[in-house]
Amino acid sequence: MSVINKTVLEANAIPNVAIDFMNNTHVEEIELVKKVGDVIAEYEQRETFTSEEIKVLNDLLHEWLHHTEEHFARENELMQKISFPMYSVHLSEHERVLENMIEVIQSWDRNFDINRLANFIFSAWPEWFNNHVNSMDMVTAQFAVMNGFDPHATVAVD
Ligand SMILES: [Fe+2]
Ligand SMILES: [Fe+2]
Repeated sequence: MSVINKTVLEANAIPNVAIDFMNNTHVEEIELVKKVGDVIAEYEQRETFTSEEIKVLNDLLHEWLHHTEEHFARENELMQKISFPMYSVHLSEHERVLENMIEVIQSWDRNFDINRLANFIFSAWPEWFNNHVNSMDMVTAQFAVMNGFDPHATVAVD
């Protein structure tokens, strides 16, 4: 039995920031996390999984982790390029959530506790992401554009 009333976030619920490549990354990330959420919703309430089912979820989780690492690396590069005054605050939010993600994924790898994963995907992560885009990303992009960074640039650093 699947639990379908679970949602992660909708891309249009996330505010646009002033730089295109950041918005594109955010939309991609939400789409990826929704895929992870669909699989978790299907697996929820169960205690055992086939190795094929575990592989499907693990592959998606690692794709998401990789996407997040690249997402944060690009924003960190942008901040350095524009000498963003709150670099260390924004950077440490990235580092903290990456640590959380790695910890939750490792814990799933160890004991296949689907409920812990569900909690993170459907509650902790969406709340974090929404707040982060609304604060750190928003301010970083605004500062960059005010300081001459091209809002339509496709990369942080040429
Ligand atoms: Fe971001
Ligand atoms: Fe960010």
